[in-house]
Amino acid sequence: MSETEKTPIVEVVGVSKRFPGVFALNQVNFAVYPGEVVALIGENGAGKSTLMKILGGLHRQDEGEIRIDGKPAEIRNVSDSLYLGISLIHQELNNLDNLDVGGNIFLGREPLTGGFLRLIDRRKIAEDSRAYLKKVGLELSPTTPLSSLSIAQQQLVEIAKALSVNARVIIMDEPTSCLTLTETNRLLKLIQELKSSGVSVVYISHRLMEVQACADRVVGLRDGRNSGSLEKAEISHDSMVRLMVGRNLDLKKSVTRNGDRGTRIELRDIVSPFFPSHKISFDVRKGEILGLAGLVGAGRSELAMTMFGIVKPLSGEISINNQPINIRSPRDAIRNGIYLVPEDRRKTGLITSMTVRENVTLPDLWNYATYGLVSYKRELLSAENQRQKLSIKTASTNTLAKNLSGGNQQKVVLAKWLSLQPKLIIFDEPTRGVDVGSKAEIYRLMRGLSDAGVFILMISSDMEEVLGVSDRIAVMREGMLTGIIEADDFSEETVMKLAVAPVKTAVQLAS
Ligand SMILES: Nc1ncnc2c1ncn2[C@@H]1O[C@H](COP(=O)(O)OP(=O)(O)O)[C@@H](O)[C@H]1O
Ligand SMILES: [Mg+2]
Repeated sequence: MSETEKTPIVEVVGVSKRFPGVFALNQVNFAVYPGEVVALIGENGAGKSTLMKILGGLHRQDEGEIRIDGKPAEIRNVSDSLYLGISLIHQELNNLDNLDVGGNIFLGREPLTGGFLRLIDRRKIAEDSRAYLKKVGLELSPTTPLSSLSIAQQQLVEIAKALSVNARVIIMDEPTSCLTLTETNRLLKLIQELKSSGVSVVYISHRLMEVQACADRVVGLRDGRNSGSLEKAEISHDSMVRLMVGRNLDLKKSVTRNGDRGTRIELRDIVSPFFPSHKISFDVRKGEILGLAGLVGAGRSELAMTMFGIVKPLSGEISINNQPINIRSPRDAIRNGIYLVPEDRRKTGLITSMTVRENVTLPDLWNYATYGLVSYKRELLSAENQRQKLSIKTASTNTLAKNLSGGNQQKVVLAKWLSLQPKLIIFDEPTRGVDVGSKAEIYRLMRGLSDAGVFILMISSDMEEVLGVSDRIAVMREGMLTGIIEADDFSEETVMKLAVAPVKTAVQLAS
């Protein structure tokens, strides 16, 4: 029987939702059928989370109807949603940290004991929790504090909680963005188990391989509208990219450049305190993007921290165009035009409680200040300028950064650094957790910066990105530079070979 002959468990018909200045959802249709895994894909800001929050009772739609088993239903709050069999597992888990696992599973509906004393029945909580924890494959005591669990484990607790309320539809909003490969695979397996036990899953991810692995159907959103859907047989990387961005993406760069060998930033015999027995020497040429590849823990971020002055190198020298520079602090680095765009933009790159404008102009406040006062007009002008240059999608530069989608937050971070006329920018995992469309824009931006004469060092663990974006690739392993690959020799094998290469001693490297 084809899925379309069945009545959907949940159906969204013509739903629209506006936020101040943003049309987040525009006449969207969406359905979840019994026992299917439906993936919802779309670029950052497409409206995926908003749609799911409406189903989860966290937002109310402005227009349109929600039907459960074919009948119109009202979802006014989270308990309505739970009552209707929908469980939303948030993109950003905000578990109550001081609870234990069992307490979290039964939060708000704790079984009682002790007659009129109405005491919470901890024994029953523990017993019942254990059964649900077992179902999701989590072998731990219900009295374990939530705060001691990894994100992956906390997600499993959320799924256990969904099972305990007999959820018919479990929505997972980007569940794997913080998971390791093993954890991700375990989750994908659990999703199949949920499916065979009759639970439907809505799976949101921009990791297309995962979607391909688990989805029976794919629904696309673009700029708050439906952009199409794919039946199982039609699901492919390319067809999904088309749904997300409305065109085919070509990661390959048009020409490989060799860079200007004469003009360069040179690192000579840099020894970072993290790996005191290894000396690192290489150069970044003007006009090239130098990729820095390696496995997790290869020492790439540590090298970046050393170059940016967060930690002092034990020895060695950095020079720009043969002029040695002295970097003992980030302030020194910045004074010399060296910037670091950190991996965790939410923690270190962006102050989410400040507006876009404040974020963009933050590192350069003195430029906007006259007699110590920040000139609102000048700040606004600069922020507006950057917003247009980078096409940051926000209602206004006065919007709080936390209300922007991930890709646009990343752009704000870039705008922030760009306003400083940098010489070298080190990008640490520039597109981790970013969707394909925004990725392409970030690549374009890096290329633009490089063309404008900024030295670019790109740390990346994404093989496709390393091979597709770099002009040369330096590879590290365990704190040591194991080799530099020229464009002609680019392949996954050459990179991996160096990434797992036996570590030579510093003496050998120096010779
Ligand atoms: N609480 C909010 N206030 C204002 N704008 C919001 C809010 N939540 C989401 N938006 C905006 O709505 C649009 C859709 O966002 P979202 O649903 O989070 O997208 P996705 O999950 O697909 O990345 C974005 O432009 C986002 O900035
Ligand atoms: Mg989202």
